[in-house]
Amino acid sequence: MISELQQLEKDALAELDTAKTEDQFLSIKTKYLGRKGLLTGILRNIAKVSDDEKPLIGKLCNEIKNSLSVKIDEAIQQQARQKKEEIILKEKIDVTLPGSSVKCGRIHPINQICREICSVFSSFGFSVVEGPEIELDYYNFEALNIPKDHPARDMQDTFYIEENIVLRTHTSPVQVRVMEKFRPPLRILSPGKVYRRDSDVSHTPMFHQIEGLLVDKNVTFGDLKGILTSFLKKIFGEVTVLRFRPSFFPFTEPSAEVDIRCVMCGGSGCRVCGQSGWLEILGSGMVDPAVFRNVNYDSEEYSGFAFGLGLERMAMLKYGISDIRLFFENDIRFLKQF
Ligand code: PHE
Repeated sequence: MISELQQLEKDALAELDTAKTEDQFLSIKTKYLGRKGLLTGILRNIAKVSDDEKPLIGKLCNEIKNSLSVKIDEAIQQQARQKKEEIILKEKIDVTLPGSSVKCGRIHPINQICREICSVFSSFGFSVVEGPEIELDYYNFEALNIPKDHPARDMQDTFYIEENIVLRTHTSPVQVRVMEKFRPPLRILSPGKVYRRDSDVSHTPMFHQIEGLLVDKNVTFGDLKGILTSFLKKIFGEVTVLRFRPSFFPFTEPSAEVDIRCVMCGGSGCRVCGQSGWLEILGSGMVDPAVFRNVNYDSEEYSGFAFGLGLERMAMLKYGISDIRLFFENDIRFLKQF
C-alpha cells in the first residue's frame, strides 16, 4: 500500500507537470484528492493493513495529500501570474513611462475681450442680450432710419439671403428688437457675429461687434462721453487719451466716432495709426428720434445713446496683432499666446 501511495504521488506530479490551464490543475486535484478520488480509493483498503502499519499509512497519506494540494495551488497561482505578465507584454504597457499630460484649452482672444467688455458694462448696470444673425432688412436697415437706396447702405456691403432677409451687417438691429419688447429705462449690451462682403488684412467677411444702448429720461451727450470714457480707460488703461470726433450714422444724431491716442506710438505717428497718432475705436451717438418713432417711444420724454464697436479691432490693438485673419485660422501656436 505504501508503494501504491508513492506511485499515486508520482503520477499526480507527472500530470501536474504537463498541465497548463487552471481547469486542468483543478481536475487533477479532483482526480487524486477529491472525495471520490484515487487517494480515497486506496484508503478504502486500509482494513487489509496490519494495525502496526496503519498509523504509518495514515501519516503518509496526509503528507501526500498536503504536499500535492500545496503544489497544485501554487501551480494555479503561478499560471495566473504568468497569464497577467503575458497580457502586459502583449499590450506593451510600460508602467515606467511618464503619463501623457492633459492639454488644457484656452478662451479664444475674441471671446476673452468680449467677456472683458461685457463685465465692464455689467458693472455699469448693463444687461447682455443677443439677437439673430440672419436678420430682416427691416431691423438691419429700415427701422434704423436707413431706407432702401439710402447711400449709407453702401458703407455696409451686404450678404442678401432673399430680398428682405440679410446676414446682419452690424449689431444695431438688436437695439430695435429690444426697444420693441421693453419700455425704458434700458441698459443693454449685445455682442455677436456680423457679416460684410469684405476681405483683407483688416477685414474678414464675418467679424464681431458689441452694441450698447442706454435709454432713460434726461440722458445727455455728457452721459455718453462719461460712460465711454470710463469704459475705454478700463480696457486700455487709465492714461488713455480719448477724442470724440463728429460723424454720421442714420440712427444717431448727433453722432461721434471715438478715437484713442495710438497705443503703439503714443501719438507720434506710426504704421498702425496711419501716421495720424489716433486710433478709431467705436461709433456712437444719441439715438435718433426717427428710431424712437419706429418703436413707439416718445422722444420728448426719453432720450438715449448707442454705440457699436468691432471686437477684432479692439483685440488687435490690445494684443498688438497685425493680421485679422489670424483669429480665424485656428492655428494653435497663435491661439496659445493669449
Ligand atoms: N452700427 C454701426 C456700425 O456698424 C456702429 C454704431 C452703433 C454707431 C451704434 C452708432 C451707434 O458701423
